[in-house]
Amino acid sequence: MPLRLRDCHNFHDFRDLAKRRLPGPIFDYIDGAADDEVTRARNTAAFDEVDLVPNVLRGVEAVDLTTRVLGQTLDLPVYCSPTALQRLFHHDGERATAAAAARFGTMFGVSSLGTVSLEEVRKKHATPQVYQFYFHKDRGLNRAMMERAKEAGVEVMMLTVDSITGGNRERDKRTGFSIPFKLNLKGLSQFVMKPQWGINYVTHDSFSLPQLDGHVDMGGGAASIGQYFTDMLDPSMDWDDVAQMVDFWGGPFCLKGIMAAEDAVRAAGIGCAGVVISNHGGRQLDGSRAPFDQLEEVVQAAGDRLDVILDSGVTRGTHVLKALSLGAKAVGLGRYYLFPLAAAGQPGVERALDLMRDELTRDMRLMGRTRIDQLTADNLRDRRPH
Ligand code: FNR
Ligand code: LAC
Repeated sequence: MPLRLRDCHNFHDFRDLAKRRLPGPIFDYIDGAADDEVTRARNTAAFDEVDLVPNVLRGVEAVDLTTRVLGQTLDLPVYCSPTALQRLFHHDGERATAAAAARFGTMFGVSSLGTVSLEEVRKKHATPQVYQFYFHKDRGLNRAMMERAKEAGVEVMMLTVDSITGGNRERDKRTGFSIPFKLNLKGLSQFVMKPQWGINYVTHDSFSLPQLDGHVDMGGGAASIGQYFTDMLDPSMDWDDVAQMVDFWGGPFCLKGIMAAEDAVRAAGIGCAGVVISNHGGRQLDGSRAPFDQLEEVVQAAGDRLDVILDSGVTRGTHVLKALSLGAKAVGLGRYYLFPLAAAGQPGVERALDLMRDELTRDMRLMGRTRIDQLTADNLRDRRPH
């Protein structure tokens, strides 16, 4: 078990350190997934079904990891996917994630359930910013949220479409994890065991959800994340609703949580610039296929009309190279940066991104490649019988 940040050399070490430092219910909220968590495990395992075939003797001194995606130029083919509630994980929350992403020249997402305002991080950093939101029953709220993001100068709009209702997170049910905290006795006792987290929490800005200020009362009631999904979001959302939003936004618009090739084709049809193949890190529909297993089909169906991006289960540079080889334009990181954030704030996220950049550079050299566009399906062999 690592005791300090410098003992962390990969995802598993960051996860262990976060576990050591976080109150149990918060660790479980990040780590956990839906039902039996089969999909969460499958997401990462899927990468092992395909092998890399390297080339040698190609002159690989200078490796360029620059990537173009959704109209943005990134120094790395990975970005920090939008996630909720980051100041609960570490008191600097989104401030730390955005600063780390900016240092590495890559994109970061701010969630509508974020705990730092999208304007604050937009002003502070020049690196491309994604705003992730959900479709609310209140259409006025949807427009107001997009207008606010437009005014702030956010580059990319990302609508999450796999969370039309809350996933069944049984770990959270057991601890009573909700916003604001309404912990049961077992959950409460786990907070007492991590006093340093408690001291940081009470000595920094009080908890808030600035993207939803004035719209959702998460402070007054006992609305849990699941209840927010169930009560506030609109399960009647359909392609026509989203088409209107794409027009209203007018810039790069991306759907996060697409799995079926047919849906990617429809997304292209309504003018989306990209889709993120994702199952929300296994947190929504357990039993859902791994995004990596769907990638080839989606790229073949729609890859010439929009940017295909992938997230869920990515913990290694070689996972990223495999996804890029099958046609993904970029890869989203979730828990890969959340555990280092929780364990050590901005230096944690920076260490994680630094390790990822090192892995990508090393693996590109070992593959005999110097540019992302040199990665193709010819680099891969599928172990599975067809
Ligand atoms: C998420 N994710 C997420 N997605 C989104 O669209 N809006 C959100 O607010 C959140 N919040 C969130 C919180 C936490 C704690 C986690 C772990 C994830 C999903 C996230 O953006 C991404 O799709 C997954 O995390 C990818 O899976 P991995 O990389 O964590 O396996
Ligand atoms: C989650 C939501 C907030 O995965 O997207 O917890």
